Amino acid sequence: MAETVLVTGVLGCLGAWTAHAALADGDAVVGYDLGEDTARLRLVLGDDAERVTLVRGDVTELEALEHVLDEHAITRVVHLAALQVPFVRANPPLGMHVNVAGTVNVFDAVSRRLDRITGVVYASSTAVYNAGDPSPAPETGGVAPTTLYGVSKLADEGIARVYAADTGVASIGLRPYIVYGPGRDQGMTSGPTAAMLAAVRGEPYSVGFTGTAQYDYAPDVARAFLTAAAAVRDGAAVYNAPGVVASVEEVADQIRAAVPGAQLTWSGVPLPFPAELEAVGFDRDIGPFPRTPLADGIAETVAHFRATLV
Ligand SMILES: NC(=O)c1ccc[n+]([C@@H]2O[C@H](COP(=O)([O-])OP(=O)(O)OC[C@H]3O[C@@H](n4cnc5c(N)ncnc54)[C@H](O)[C@@H]3O)[C@@H](O)[C@H]2O)c1
Repeated sequence: MAETVLVTGVLGCLGAWTAHAALADGDAVVGYDLGEDTARLRLVLGDDAERVTLVRGDVTELEALEHVLDEHAITRVVHLAALQVPFVRANPPLGMHVNVAGTVNVFDAVSRRLDRITGVVYASSTAVYNAGDPSPAPETGGVAPTTLYGVSKLADEGIARVYAADTGVASIGLRPYIVYGPGRDQGMTSGPTAAMLAAVRGEPYSVGFTGTAQYDYAPDVARAFLTAAAAVRDGAAVYNAPGVVASVEEVADQIRAAVPGAQLTWSGVPLPFPAELEAVGFDRDIGPFPRTPLADGIAETVAHFRATLV
């Protein structure tokens, strides 16, 4: 049966890719977002962007969320709306309000509609870890984040746990690391994708961090969110995304393989997270998490930018 999927934050990178994957499955997509700029949706979906029903709204407004769940008879919820690290840093009260109160609202609204919606799938983050955590970081870890953004995501995981216990709202949270791919144009780790776009444009680019980390191709993460939305039944699970472990030099090499002569430099310190994450739970409990090889993901991203560059 076709589902009607609510995607909060649909105008963001992962929101657009989640809408893309849901439409490919034959589902209807209702996108809920505060913003007005549909550029990422059009970049990712092309003409299919028209097939997404857009509702302008704020996740911090519970009534509006409840209204959209009922007006569109939503059957699945993928909650991605959030402010990323730089935006939380710039305005901590707003960042925590959106990332924490907004998530409570989503769970609260769903708790009154469990006859129609089996649970909530939402984005947590690798930012729940800190640089002192072991690498690979155990999937059960991530208890002392060093940014308010990370604290907000850890709070979201706690909200999920309590709603499962108290009101029976099942949930699956995913913790992506460095998401890359078309549409990834903001946030602390958007540099690698910005480097791919600059390379296509023939412009130099310098990424502001160094070291080894995990790279998650945005369409893979979006597919995993939808697989999770189909599987969520009980409890409050949280899984790391099994990205590709790579150094910045390896990423640069792959970008140069796709765009010979790309002018790339890297500087700064490594990201404040463990280089590698244990990521076994999703495959074990839910199903295979897609794993596009880094070379393929970068080549596809570059091809997408080439095809859409105006
Ligand atoms: N991009 C990454 O590397 C990464 C890594 C780990 C976790 N995540 C998480 O994944 C999710 C999606 O990330 P993304 O890269 O697509 O982010 P993004 O910044 O591209 O998009 C976020 C979207 O949320 C919307 N939004 C912000 N405040 C809102 C509000 N109050 N109400 C409704 N919509 C609102 C924005 O308008 C935007 O369209 C976020 O929760 C993010 O924290 C992202």
